[in-house]
Amino acid sequence: MTLQSTAEVRASERVGAFQHVTLAAPGVVETFRPGNFVSIGLDDGVHLARRSFWVHRVRSSSSFGATIDIVVRPGGAGSTWLAGLPVGASVDLIGPLGRPFAQPKEPVPCLLVGEGYAAASLFPLAERLVERGCPVSLLLAADTADEVIDGLDVRRSAEAVTVVTGDGSMGAQGSVAQALPGALQRSGASVVYAAGPSSTLHAVAGVSELHGAWSQVALEVNQPCGTGLCHGCIVPAVGEDAIAHRVRACAEGPVFRGDRIQWGLL
Ligand SMILES: Cc1cc2nc3c(=O)[nH]c(=O)nc-3n(C[C@H](O)[C@H](O)[C@H](O)COP(=O)(O)OP(=O)(O)OC[C@H]3O[C@@H](n4cnc5c(N)ncnc54)[C@H](O)[C@@H]3O)c2cc1C
Ligand code: FES
Repeated sequence: MTLQSTAEVRASERVGAFQHVTLAAPGVVETFRPGNFVSIGLDDGVHLARRSFWVHRVRSSSSFGATIDIVVRPGGAGSTWLAGLPVGASVDLIGPLGRPFAQPKEPVPCLLVGEGYAAASLFPLAERLVERGCPVSLLLAADTADEVIDGLDVRRSAEAVTVVTGDGSMGAQGSVAQALPGALQRSGASVVYAAGPSSTLHAVAGVSELHGAWSQVALEVNQPCGTGLCHGCIVPAVGEDAIAHRVRACAEGPVFRGDRIQWGLL
């Protein structure tokens, strides 16, 4: 069930290029599934459009109570405002939202590909897949080392972790498109889950199909409301009926089958 609530900032810590923000959100924790996101209203009196954030971690009980962690990349007005909130501040939060990642019925090898902050969405998924007995490999990518997302627990539970950065400051120098064929071959994955910029997701969808693997991509397009009301997040996608539709990324997505997106029209 989706809830609108006032969520208190319980902790906020800078890690590399990101601000990790812990929010008290009991309603989200109870019904969250990996791939869901939350939508936050900017209480700055200027910006009406909400901002969406992946959930990096959920904790049903901690010293802060039931919380979620989000990973904010400060850049524009909304992310900079959120990253700067002090502990004790409150935000208007709606969640969990969106269609989550579909998980395999059998314990098959899975490859999780995440670029930049968007990799946050894959960490709860990795935990669930490992619990279900799926061998999980990770391919993490970013422009620079300080944009490679943190998550030691998940890294430890993965069979293999490959890191690539654009400038070579962590792992191998390169991109997801360059590293993916090797990672797919080594992992023997039959399902690939990906999160990152749409150019990366497009590449993942294409390479996965070539290797006979299913892909699921967590797509980011601007989401002014995040709740399905405004139709401001339209994506061209082919449905189960093999017909092209214009669907709402926030409601019919944000997770889609990679081979269903009409990438050329995005
Ligand atoms: C599903 C999803 C998950 C995301 N997860 C994360 C995450 O985990 N971490 C993270 O850092 N970011 C995440 N983002 C991106 C995030 O929602 C913001 O877009 C990003 O932080 C930049 O927002 P900003 O306010 O800083 O920048 P701004 O430039 O102020 O705005 C961001 C975008 O919103 C649009 N926008 C601004 N005002 C309006 C308006 N009035 N009407 C319509 N559109 C408007 C702009 O075109 C701009 O592209 C996610 C996005 C999506 C869709
Ligand atoms: S963001 Fe408003 S309908 Fe999707």
